[in-house]
Amino acid sequence: MLNWDDFLRATESAALNDQLARLREKEGDWFSGRSHGDYEKWQRALSDILQLAPPSTAIDSDFSTDAPRVGRAADIPEESSGRLRSLLMQFHPWRKGPFEFFGIPIDTEWRSDWKWKRLLPHISPLKDRLVLDIGSGNGYFSWRMWAAGARAVLAVDPMLLYTMQFRLLASYVPQAPVVQLPIPFEALERHRPLFDTVFSLGVLYHRRSPMDHLLDIRNILRPGGELVLETLVTEGPRGHVFVPPGRYARMRNVWFIPSTGALEDWLARCGFERIRLADVNVTSRSEQRSTAWMHYESLADFLDKDDPSKTVEGHPRPRRALFIANRA
Ligand SMILES: C[S@@+](CC[C@H](N)C(=O)[O-])C[C@H]1O[C@@H](n2cnc3c(N)ncnc32)[C@H](O)[C@@H]1O
Repeated sequence: MLNWDDFLRATESAALNDQLARLREKEGDWFSGRSHGDYEKWQRALSDILQLAPPSTAIDSDFSTDAPRVGRAADIPEESSGRLRSLLMQFHPWRKGPFEFFGIPIDTEWRSDWKWKRLLPHISPLKDRLVLDIGSGNGYFSWRMWAAGARAVLAVDPMLLYTMQFRLLASYVPQAPVVQLPIPFEALERHRPLFDTVFSLGVLYHRRSPMDHLLDIRNILRPGGELVLETLVTEGPRGHVFVPPGRYARMRNVWFIPSTGALEDWLARCGFERIRLADVNVTSRSEQRSTAWMHYESLADFLDKDDPSKTVEGHPRPRRALFIANRA
């Protein structure tokens, strides 16, 4: 199961640990065939991988590189590599990464390392900080946060597949104080100031009530704590907010796309100060693309073939802003 003990020790937070103890009572429901039809398949693939490449202290891993790495090709028999690759494929689609697993490069849909490079120079050093990663995907950024010195990282994402991908890597670094739970942020208690840094990367535009998301983050941060927020933005004056009338870049669940000025006002209104716009980036077809590890459609298919400055629905193509702000 999850590596709770090291994590609970590292949080140094009785309030968080009490809450997690209550949540853990539901662990059996999260990880079962009842929560997802593919759970048994993923669980089988995970145990087959653990048999093929048993975790051991001799396995050398490095999570501080662009492609966090578990083991090396030489750690498993050469003839097992093909079998390992097909077991890893059972966890398709691999969206966030890249990773390297016993010499096999996992070329994910997203070059998440590019986002990490964009944000790292702007955030407070993570050393010894208690961090929450909301909408963590498979935990790519959580691993990078831990490797950057975070005291402990709690990651939450409701998609069970992503937590299974997380658990695969976590099995090889059981001492790491990083835990991912397959639950939405809203399943956490959000009224206590617990975290030093909260990351909300690529989540706000999925929320029907973005102010509540920001207020919840404000309340869960300790005074002075830091929010690292990345979300879709639109060009336009202060106060301008675009609400797609239907799908946006084929996504059904995109609600509010503010201008950077509007987002700054939202943050101030929700109790943040020292609000800094660190970066604005138009997502490129090299950063988000179909690969052997994510063979569904990707950004190139979501843009107008004749005018790639627009989505297939005719809206401006995805542009993402990165804001850093502190709880007042
Ligand atoms: C666009 S992805 C971003 C993933 C990653 N943070 C990144 O920046 O690449 C959005 C993620 O947020 C998750 N998500 C959506 N609603 C959420 C919620 N209420 N609480 C936590 N995660 C949520 C989705 O399952 C998805 O994995």
